[in-house]
Amino acid sequence: MRLKDKIAIITGGASGIGLEAVKLFAREGAHVALVDFNEEAGLLQERELQEKWDHIKFFQADVSDRESVDQMVQAVMDHFNGIDILINNAGITRDKTLRKMSVQDFQKVIDVNLTGVFHCAQAALPYMLERGKGKIINTSSISGVGGNIGQSNYSAAKAGVIGLTKTWAKELGKKGINVNAVAPGFIETDMIKTIPDMQLMQIKMITPSPRLGTPLDIANAYLFLASDESDFVNGHVLNVDGGMLK
Ligand code: NAI
Repeated sequence: MRLKDKIAIITGGASGIGLEAVKLFAREGAHVALVDFNEEAGLLQERELQEKWDHIKFFQADVSDRESVDQMVQAVMDHFNGIDILINNAGITRDKTLRKMSVQDFQKVIDVNLTGVFHCAQAALPYMLERGKGKIINTSSISGVGGNIGQSNYSAAKAGVIGLTKTWAKELGKKGINVNAVAPGFIETDMIKTIPDMQLMQIKMITPSPRLGTPLDIANAYLFLASDESDFVNGHVLNVDGGMLK
């Protein structure tokens, strides 16, 4: 049990990578706050998961809304009485080329994928400082490291997440808090459902490990960075992309 009795918040926990991480963390002994904007999906997952693990609870929140995040963190504290791990995993896409992207779509993705990370970390921080130990894991992307056609908003947000990660590692390391990021490649979730099959085939062909990633590939990286095994890893961006970005 690599996370025995640790209390973890996982945002975007109702589907895809986040949901896989909720299950893996529960298996490893953590008490998990499954946080998601989507109430229906969150409650459904809570019901199913609680049949196996009673230490999982759903909290509805919109990470882009500060009041909603503050209320969620307070509710997590009331229920679990502590926060050891924060996985900033919630994210959205609104893809269009620069010529066609609306200001609204640019701003929306920044609000959720970048400002949302800031909100959650700032709200959870006092409770990690109280414990003198903590792990913050932010979800970036290969698009944030290398850019991607049609993703001005997403690439900017995910590059910004790397900036936050490196800054917070420097600010918080001496307080016992490690801040790292994971940069997934193409992972089989709802998020990539809009990519045509032909393009997915090409993606596999240019990936040294020639396949798409699974949600578990990313959840395993979250687990390492959330566990004591990574106590001397700080400010790092872990590419989990089959070697796509060299
Ligand atoms: P997904 O679409 O399956 O799950 C995202 C979850 O976030 C959903 O449950 C959604 O309801 C929730 N969410 C969206 N907006 C929210 C908000 N404002 N507040 C709270 N929750 C919100 O996506 P997936 O693939 O599991 O993505 C997880 C993370 O991994 C995201 O940050 C994404 O950008 C990142 N990522 C995914 C890649 C992929 O190929 N699937 C590649 C690189 C990064």
